This record gives sequence, C-alpha cells and structure tokens, in this order.
Amino acid sequence: METRLKKGICIAVGNQKGGVGKTTTAVHLAAALSMRGHTCLLMDLDPSAGATKHLGVHQNSYAGALELLTTEEPLEVLVVNEGLPERLHLLPARPQLAELDSMLSKFVDRTRVLDRALAAARHLYDFIIIDTPPSAGAVTTVAAYSAAEWFLLAAFPHPLALAGLSEACRDIADVRARRNPELEVLGVVFTNVDGRTRKLRAQLDDLVQALMPGRRFRTAVSQAVVIPTMSGLGKTVFEHELSDRLLVARQFKRLADEVEHRTLHRDRFLGGTLGEPPGWNTPALLAMADDLLEAHGQHA
Ligand SMILES: Nc1ncnc2c1ncn2[C@@H]1O[C@H](COP(=O)(O)OP(=O)(O)OP(=O)(O)O)[C@@H](O)[C@H]1O
Ligand SMILES: [Mg+2]
Repeated sequence: METRLKKGICIAVGNQKGGVGKTTTAVHLAAALSMRGHTCLLMDLDPSAGATKHLGVHQNSYAGALELLTTEEPLEVLVVNEGLPERLHLLPARPQLAELDSMLSKFVDRTRVLDRALAAARHLYDFIIIDTPPSAGAVTTVAAYSAAEWFLLAAFPHPLALAGLSEACRDIADVRARRNPELEVLGVVFTNVDGRTRKLRAQLDDLVQALMPGRRFRTAVSQAVVIPTMSGLGKTVFEHELSDRLLVARQFKRLADEVEHRTLHRDRFLGGTLGEPPGWNTPALLAMADDLLEAHGQHA
C-alpha cells in the first residue's frame, strides 16, 4: 500500500453548475483523507477562492495557484499549512487567477498548464484534490481534467442536476477522447440532501446508474446548517467541538473511505469487481450505513 501511495493520486472535483457543493466536498474530502493519515494537497483552482476561504486562509495574503501556473516558483514554497489540519496543505487561489488565460504566452498549450506542477505534487503527497470553478471551459478546469486521473462529480439533488449529470458525462467523454484517456469517473456524490429530496435522489441515482454504471457513491451528505456555519468561520465540520456527534462529519469520513478504497484498487474498481471498503460489513457499521441518511430523512 505504501508504494502505491507514493505515486500521488489526483482527483479533480467538478461540475459546470455553480453552487452545487464542489468546494465543500473537495475541502472535506481532503481533510478526511488527511485524518486517515494521508498527506493531502488541496489545490484551489477557482478564482473565487472558495476552498481558500473555507479553510480560513485570506485570499490575498499568499502567492499560490496563479504563481504556480505562471512562474517557475516551486510548489513547496507556494503551499500553505499554517493553521490547517495536520497533513493537509493548501495551494491558495485569488481573484487574479481569472486572468490566467491572458497571462499565458500564446505558445503555451492551455490544457497542459498544470502538468509540471502536478508531477511535482505527486511525489510529495498521497492525494491531490483539485477544486475547479463552475465552468467546463475555464483554463484551470480544462487543465485539471487533462492532468488528473479521477473526476469526482459533486451535485445537489435538484431537478437541474439531471441536466448537469449529462453535461458532465459529455465533458468527461470529450476530455478522454481528445486529451486524457486516463481520466475516469471516480463517483458522483449528492450533498445537501434532505428528507424532501429523497424521491428526486432516487431518480438521480437511477440516472447515474444508467450513465455511469457502478460510479454512484453509497455515501450521500445531508443538508446541515453546520456546514455553511463552519465554512464562515474558515473551518471544516471536523473542527466543530461536537464533531464526533455530527452526522455530516461521519458522512464525509465515509465518503473518504469509499474514495480511498476505489483509488487504491483502481483496476478492480474499473473492472467492476471491487466490493465495499474493508470493515463496512461489520454489524456496527452496517447499522450506521446509508441508513444514516435515511434516519435523518425520517426525522427531517
Ligand atoms: N450539505 C450541505 N448542507 C448545507 N449547506 C451546504 C451543504 N453543502 C454545501 N452547502 C452550502 O452551499 C453553498 C454552495 O456550496 P459550495 O460552495 O460547496 O458549492 P460550489 O459548487 O463549490 O459553488 P461554486 O460553483 O460557486 O464554486 C455554500 O454556501 C455551502 O456552505
Ligand atoms: Mg466552489
């Protein structure tokens, strides 16, 4: 396992729809994986700097993604770890990242602008999670999809998500055909789920099964006001004083279990023969399973 991890696994979190849980998922996934002992880099490639703000890092206090992509500055000096959870590093973003396209020389292949930095990051981290902006055409989104080997789609269970799923499928098929045949869908995670959206979620689950068989995550994330509250404080839900008792904290940890299991056993996962993460079938965990969400729905 140790040797596999040295390779550095890169997951781009995306959805061209805005405000659908990309940043929240990317931040909590990186934090949960770091709590499991992995060294993690969260790359904020969105000019609106959502992940940077979510981790309480002031967007203009540091150089970061923009310098990484436009200068020779090495990754090591651009990442921030001060005040962040142990083993979690952040490559911060700031609004000027929106001008990246015009800052790059016309000779640069925009789809490959992340490759050098990502190759360096893979030697340093077990997991690299990329938070992308809500636009499939943005330079950073294209570069992330061209360099990562996994794509994770985050979505709210909203009727618009039905269209979002097909769009995401098209984007990924296009990237695979033209630029990065290694890119695979790691999974689709629904967040901000409540009891009222259960029926819609079932429809969305069916659609995921039809479009991307086997790629639905068993874990979904409930709607919980503690998420925006903690984000406003520049923290994850794992830093809440009652974190152990928060449903959403357990759900994000379960999502990290699934992500770890799928990525560490890529071939079996892609071949459709991978079961659930180890330990998921013990009675105690089964009692807590999907179930957590259903129980929540019944109380909602
Ligand atoms: N499970 C949840 N329960 C309640 N609120 C949530 C949940 N997940 C996300 N939110 C809130 O929904 C809003 C949008 O989430 P987020 O910023 O993660 O979406 P995004 O897709 O990254 O948005 P953008 O496209 O603007 O980057 C945020 O205010 C976030 O705090
Ligand atoms: Mg975002």
